[in-house]
Amino acid sequence: MINTLFTPLQVGAYTLPNRIIMAPLTRMRAPQATPTDLMATYYRQRASAGLIITEATAISPQAIGYPNIPGIFTEEHVAAWQKITSAVHAENGTVFLQLWHVGRISHPDFHGGELPVAPSAIAPQGQAVTFNGMQAFVTPRALALEELPSIVNQYRYAAQLAKAAGFDGVEIHSANGYLLDQFLRDGSNQRTDSYGGSFENRYRLLQEVTQAVVDVWGADKVGLRLSPSGTFNDMSDSDPTALFTYVVEQLNSFNLAYLHLVDALESDIRHGAKVVDLAVLRAAYQGCLLVCGGYDQARGHQAIADGLADAVAYGELYIANPDLVGRFKQNAPLNKPDASTYYGGDEHGYTDYPFLT
Ligand code: PHB
Repeated sequence: MINTLFTPLQVGAYTLPNRIIMAPLTRMRAPQATPTDLMATYYRQRASAGLIITEATAISPQAIGYPNIPGIFTEEHVAAWQKITSAVHAENGTVFLQLWHVGRISHPDFHGGELPVAPSAIAPQGQAVTFNGMQAFVTPRALALEELPSIVNQYRYAAQLAKAAGFDGVEIHSANGYLLDQFLRDGSNQRTDSYGGSFENRYRLLQEVTQAVVDVWGADKVGLRLSPSGTFNDMSDSDPTALFTYVVEQLNSFNLAYLHLVDALESDIRHGAKVVDLAVLRAAYQGCLLVCGGYDQARGHQAIADGLADAVAYGELYIANPDLVGRFKQNAPLNKPDASTYYGGDEHGYTDYPFLT
């Protein structure tokens, strides 16, 4: 039998009813980093996804780099997320929280005037999104060797709070040019200590963070996201195919619930990305593999039928189609997302997209 997006899938501890995953989507609707009741409505509406991965969520104050992104580092955050996990569970959904530290993709405005932190003092090209509009990225402060255990502890603590909030698991965000990705790639990591240089050294922080999160949750409730071909947030690496093949081979030993790979996007190719062939990583990785990156239904089915992936995550399609699974099943027309309401705002363009009737 050929598997499709509608074939159930064992992902770590969970049997998902389908392979249509809601990708993590930043929506910037959490004032003071605290999730709202409106967010509970939004996630409940999308609970028919095989798995929801929440929007990226800051693990500490230092981890923040955008206005109104949610956090998971206080008791208030836990209480607010509990309403969201309950809402999703009431609809028989499964939801993992994405754990996020932005590293250098931030601005002193978020940190009482202090510099954002990074593996090395290298400013990304581009601008930060702040409460005072777009502002040029600053040169970050390189984390001292002695500070790295505290970064691991931020992940551990956030993972514990995610458990208290009733999530079914967590996804470690090591993609898209944020802190853990900054450590992996040599365009942003030029350290000369045991966290820079060789693949082994650049992988060290991700290894330690993953171990800490697995210690809290058990490997069968932990996913991890990488973007090997990504150029977003001014990322580059001298040999991404060799680097990410090494990383994926190392990750095999954790036996995680899943690995989530962001495929090369058109924008990466425009920016001259060295594209890492998914098939190479598929061959190197022994566990459950999720892919995403502008897939439509046909390409999703194909990736699964070809054995390139076990499940497919959909981002923009999930913004506008809370009932994406039902629409795919019926081959129904899809609502078009309104990009002007992606980031910030109210229920408009958030919880008011129509369901199929
Ligand atoms: C964003 O807010 O633009 C954003 C956040 C997390 C990502 C990618 C983009 O992984």
